[in-house]
Amino acid sequence: MCGIIGYCSKDTKASSVIFQDLKRMEYRGYDSSGIAMMSGGKLLIRKGIGKLDEVNRQYKLDKMPGQVGIGHTRWATHGGVTQPNTHPHTDCSGQIAVIHNGIIDNYQELRKDLIKRGHRFASETDTEVIPHKIEDEMKRGRTLQEAVIAIAPRLHGSYAFLAISTREPGKIVGTRKGSPLVVGLGDHKAFAASDSLALAGQINQLFPLGEGEVAVLSADKAVFYDSTGREIPKKAIKPDAVWSENDKGSYDYFMLKEIMEQPKSLVAAALQDKEIFTAVSLDILRAGQVIVTACGSSRYAALVGRYLFSSVGKKFCEVVMASEFQYFADSVNKNTLVLAISQSGETLDVIEGVELARQEGARIVSIINRPQSLLGELSHNVIYLNCGPEIGVAATKSFLNQLAVFYLLSFSMVHSFDMAVDNIRKVSRQVSKTIEWNGEEIARITEKYHQKNDFYYIARGINFAIASEGALKLKEISYIHAEGMPAGELKHGTLSLIEEGTPVLVICPGDYTYKETLSNAIEAKARGAQIIAVSDVNNEIYDHWIRLPKVHELLYPIVAAVPLQLLAYSMAIKRGHNPDMPRNLAKSVTVK
Ligand code: M6R
Repeated sequence: MCGIIGYCSKDTKASSVIFQDLKRMEYRGYDSSGIAMMSGGKLLIRKGIGKLDEVNRQYKLDKMPGQVGIGHTRWATHGGVTQPNTHPHTDCSGQIAVIHNGIIDNYQELRKDLIKRGHRFASETDTEVIPHKIEDEMKRGRTLQEAVIAIAPRLHGSYAFLAISTREPGKIVGTRKGSPLVVGLGDHKAFAASDSLALAGQINQLFPLGEGEVAVLSADKAVFYDSTGREIPKKAIKPDAVWSENDKGSYDYFMLKEIMEQPKSLVAAALQDKEIFTAVSLDILRAGQVIVTACGSSRYAALVGRYLFSSVGKKFCEVVMASEFQYFADSVNKNTLVLAISQSGETLDVIEGVELARQEGARIVSIINRPQSLLGELSHNVIYLNCGPEIGVAATKSFLNQLAVFYLLSFSMVHSFDMAVDNIRKVSRQVSKTIEWNGEEIARITEKYHQKNDFYYIARGINFAIASEGALKLKEISYIHAEGMPAGELKHGTLSLIEEGTPVLVICPGDYTYKETLSNAIEAKARGAQIIAVSDVNNEIYDHWIRLPKVHELLYPIVAAVPLQLLAYSMAIKRGHNPDMPRNLAKSVTVK
């Protein structure tokens, strides 16, 4: 989590560029931010807590002098959200500044040792050990680059960090291990950033940094080194134009824009290489066991995928929450296929699970949205979601595209890839209808229930995970407690919580789950629940009807997920919350 940016230029407005680039990475963390500029041979630092615009209003980050600087937007891990804990952090003399994304696991030990040797710390962060360690090395006569190379092996954990020093004012030195860092070059400007999205439109060459590699930036060039300090050649890749589109357009929030983009993005999900799908579906069918691993919404997509694999491909697979994967590592072996699902391709829980599975000899296939991700590097084969940048913290279009990819994979298993592609294209039109039909009803539901404290979401079979996904969306951005569960489970405990007026969202399309789900809705209604149904079939027991178009039973998850996203969005707005930046969360979860 946290976004880092470094900029070396001949540009007198460098701090405003750094600020704008940080804005594009604010989705990575938004509790505090800061910039350090090299100005007239001195280090100038401004930082503060709050969202970037608030910090900028107070500290004028974008008006700082200087042509070389580093900026950071934070999601707190070590040390609370306070001004002293905000990056950049410095050494004792205030000559070296560092920004960091990741976690230094052995920071307590390093900190104790540094304090014993007279270093003074100003924050509670793990990061602050880095500038002090660099200070030690530079005192021994090392250059900034040599100092970074010398200390990197002593930092355990994950990091991408950038350092500047008044002793070498025209340079930025950066390195990474386990956290992302890319370098970009434009005309007389060099950047380093957590995400190439931050550099959109400003560069013509992009260099993803490998594990342990070091980059030394100056205004006109970037030079790369391996972890031993040996210079290495690096091939540039062309920045992808799709990944340059990152503004809200006419929408108030990214989340709404991304929901509305779904019909188009589903069509892109179907633009896949048939050969890759054939190869992956063969891998799935041949594997002794298939484990799908993911977190959050990606895991709910995997749960839908599990039904598809079983019902279409007749292949059973297990879905394991990525943070729990390590506890099942004993049963992973070379006959295991691990399917790792992650929009960002950066989620640490997923990465660590996959690393473990690789050690046991498992084959890894990942389904990712972001190109050049860490997860992609670890995988034997990769399928892309093709939905372009998703900036809102809540997963929306990436979730729908994950459902589409699972659908395509399951039909590839039975040699019907082309037909499945056609069906996904067709269902994209039904998604448009779902959006068109339900605006007013969702507004009515929001008006009536926005002050409720608890919502329950129920469904059966392939639709059950959509209930969980709908509940997650509501919790995440509107801060209302919600639970999603298989409808049949309600009577095994949760029914005792239903009382007069409790909203129960029932996903009951006219498919094989309809009759039994409806019975469960009637049981809830008999205990006072208000029934909000998501279905293509109306029924007198519904208090509200969110209307779905009629589609094939394996495609209901795709159309049913969309109004639930809209409902969560509408609730968040009504309750006065910014749905793009929910409290305590960040888009990429790169900590354990
Ligand atoms: O990037 P990933 O797909 O690995 O992210 C996984 C979860 O953190 C993510 O889906 C999260 O649950 C969403 N914010 C939910 O809307």
